[in-house]
Amino acid sequence: MSTSVYVETFGCQMNVADSERAAVRLRAAGYELSDRPNNADVVIFNTCSVRERAAHKVFTRIGEVRRTRLGVEPVFGVMGCVAQLEGETLFDNSPLVNLVVGTRATDRLPALIDRALDRKQRVIDLGERDETDAWDVPATARTSPYVAFVPIIEGCNKFCTYCIVPFSRGREKSRSAAEIIDEVKQLRDYGYREIHLIGQNVNSYRPKTEAGLEQFKGATLFARLLRAVAATGMERIKFTTSFPRDFHPDIVAAIDENENLCNWVHLPVQSGSDRVLRAMRRGHTAADYLRRIESIKNARRQIAITSDIIVGFPGETEQDFRDTMTLVSNVRYDGLYIFKYSERPGTPAAKLNDDVTRTEKTARFLELEELQKRQQRTIYESYVGREINVLAESVSAKSESDLTGHTTCHKVVNFPGRSVKLGEVAAVRVTDVKQNSLYGEALAAA
Ligand code: SAH
Ligand code: SF4
Ligand code: F3S
Repeated sequence: MSTSVYVETFGCQMNVADSERAAVRLRAAGYELSDRPNNADVVIFNTCSVRERAAHKVFTRIGEVRRTRLGVEPVFGVMGCVAQLEGETLFDNSPLVNLVVGTRATDRLPALIDRALDRKQRVIDLGERDETDAWDVPATARTSPYVAFVPIIEGCNKFCTYCIVPFSRGREKSRSAAEIIDEVKQLRDYGYREIHLIGQNVNSYRPKTEAGLEQFKGATLFARLLRAVAATGMERIKFTTSFPRDFHPDIVAAIDENENLCNWVHLPVQSGSDRVLRAMRRGHTAADYLRRIESIKNARRQIAITSDIIVGFPGETEQDFRDTMTLVSNVRYDGLYIFKYSERPGTPAAKLNDDVTRTEKTARFLELEELQKRQQRTIYESYVGREINVLAESVSAKSESDLTGHTTCHKVVNFPGRSVKLGEVAAVRVTDVKQNSLYGEALAAA
């Protein structure tokens, strides 16, 4: 029998994409992929460091898995951002771990597992990708048969002072446009209906050559890539994450020109205070940001806007927080992810005094959340009675008779699914509003 490997994924879409790549390489090398950790020979956690106590959580999870096993210890491996950052110390902190695989070593995973299986040595690889590594994942190996994540740029050069990602993912490296376009065409031919172009900062997409973009105009290479990908005819194209300073209005023009570029932009602002934005080294002021928002709101189609905000950054005063409240109430976001600042060792902000108390962070979090809930409800209520197109992606976790999926503006919609097949785009009339989703009735396949 072949050796079985179980991979559990945490964190952002980049990790999901890496786990898919890992699965392809493992199958090609003769490993079997297991969907449960209970009896796999190798158990790997693909980890994220953006949250607090990330390494600790991995050890807890290893303990949980271990308790479900009857005496037979698997090889435990850690890959992803925690692996890259913690390296050797993972071995010191947990004798159970004997494989550590950094963020650019995914393609070498089969060989690394081979070595780890004899258990005589601890195996670690924190190296760079090989030039020859292929990025693409065949359509058949994807997590969802309808929605695929396509990485276009890896790493980050921004070094926002609070953020660990530039350390865990390294410098920006863009994939060739020709390769991206080929992958999108393959996915289209295979029946995929939606793709997400992903990267920590997609707007700074900068491939080594213009191969694949020659026929496409635009103010930035990313705007040209959007037009090139739109020309493949893929039904729905979304992209995330956008970085405000690099968000060129030509992106909005590209969306206006192409119906298949979806009406959703995720543009994290982090704070509404210029003082805090400077301390975060974001490279934009609140006014710069609002100009970008203006250009999005002036688009021909209504474009949904979502954002991330950190409350309680070191030195954030009551007035700074008020500025954030004002910005949020002016923008009126369709969705907002709020984070309480927490120190990441090794980042520049970790040297600052984390002086906003826990109580104060929580109070600001709740006040901002309340404002967002109120505004979001008004936006969501404006959908009641309207007919929207929803890609039926899966059966709802809450009710087996309901299907769940997203609109082109990336809102979650649930609806009774008897007349709709998974993978179809259904016309749904919205009847009800929930906190972070819409509810409706399917009219017909759209
Ligand atoms: N590349 C994206 C997102 C990176 S991480 C961007 O530039 O926006 C996702 C979100 O986690 C960030 O937008 C930020 O809001 C939050 N985050 C990152 N580091 C954090 C920290 N140290 N404390 C609290 N929130 C943090
Ligand atoms: Fe982190 Fe800033 Fe890079 Fe986003 S742009 S990944 S927040 S450093
Ligand atoms: Fe987390 Fe790494 Fe993504 S830190 S958010 S998994 S890039």
